[in-house]
Amino acid sequence: MKNIMEQHRLAFEEAVMSFVPKAGETYKLIEDAMKYSLEAGGKRVRPVLTMEFARVCGGVSISAIPFAAAVEFIHTYSLIHDDLPCMDNDDMRRGKPSSHIKFGEANALLAGDALLTHAFSCIANSQFDAKQIAYAVKELADYAGVNGMIGGQVVDLAGEDKELGIDELFIMDKLKTAALIKSACVLGCIAADRYDNIPVAVEFAENLGLAFQIIDDILDYLEGESNSDVVSGKSTYVSLLGIENAKKMADKYTNDALNSLSKLDGDTANLRDFTVSLLNRQS
Ligand code: IPE
Ligand code: IPE
Ligand code: MG
Ligand code: MG
Ligand code: MG
Repeated sequence: MKNIMEQHRLAFEEAVMSFVPKAGETYKLIEDAMKYSLEAGGKRVRPVLTMEFARVCGGVSISAIPFAAAVEFIHTYSLIHDDLPCMDNDDMRRGKPSSHIKFGEANALLAGDALLTHAFSCIANSQFDAKQIAYAVKELADYAGVNGMIGGQVVDLAGEDKELGIDELFIMDKLKTAALIKSACVLGCIAADRYDNIPVAVEFAENLGLAFQIIDDILDYLEGESNSDVVSGKSTYVSLLGIENAKKMADKYTNDALNSLSKLDGDTANLRDFTVSLLNRQS
């Protein structure tokens, strides 16, 4: 039998495209662009976290799919915009040409806007009760917004012109990466009506998010000249600490994430294995 995170991933893959709105014939291009970036290739880390948190909290994992889709839509929008020439200027994403290479810059911008807007529609049109929907909208908006992912991207871009200190790097990564991972875990708790588990979910996600971004920086560094963050001389854990210390830092936050899970009631074995597997990932 496949492990449970893989089962969540497969269930999510089967469902995700059904959340893309049908566009009118004249402007079907926008639907194609949304689907292009949402297609398989991503690891689906955030949606499977939403589904597993829902399960660990006593809910049904597949019923959390509308919330999982909302988080993945926001994540995918953030990647489309992150790759634009005015940001990281990356031509490839998920093994394919980036959205702006395939559809042009303006349509890539709009595909990102459409995914962002529609994320909230996925939540609003879900089967959850009004309290759960309102709470999920609030949490996702906060984590994706100014004091969440957007703020982190602003710090990241500022780091192209000046070297960031390690403290600034932590502020940046808690926002640009950990914030959306927090939203994923929190929405899983909300889907199962377990608001009491949110503080531990947030603590876990912050540690996991930091480990996740440190590993992303290490993998980007190992790609070398083919990676835009390396070429543009951005401050990363690797540029500030060196690769060995960056690896130690990723180990530390992975352990902290595992310690956070010990505070959660319920069966966290799958979350523990998943956390360790992300430390050892190759992409
Ligand atoms: C990439 O996220 C951006 C970061 C926050 C590091 P992922 O590594 O989760 O990207 P996909 O979804 O698997 O493509
Ligand atoms: C991306 O960080 C974070 C967000 C999109 C919010 P990176 O710029 O490091 O991600 P990659 O390396 O392009 O996937
Ligand atoms: Mg970036
Ligand atoms: Mg980038
Ligand atoms: Mg990166």
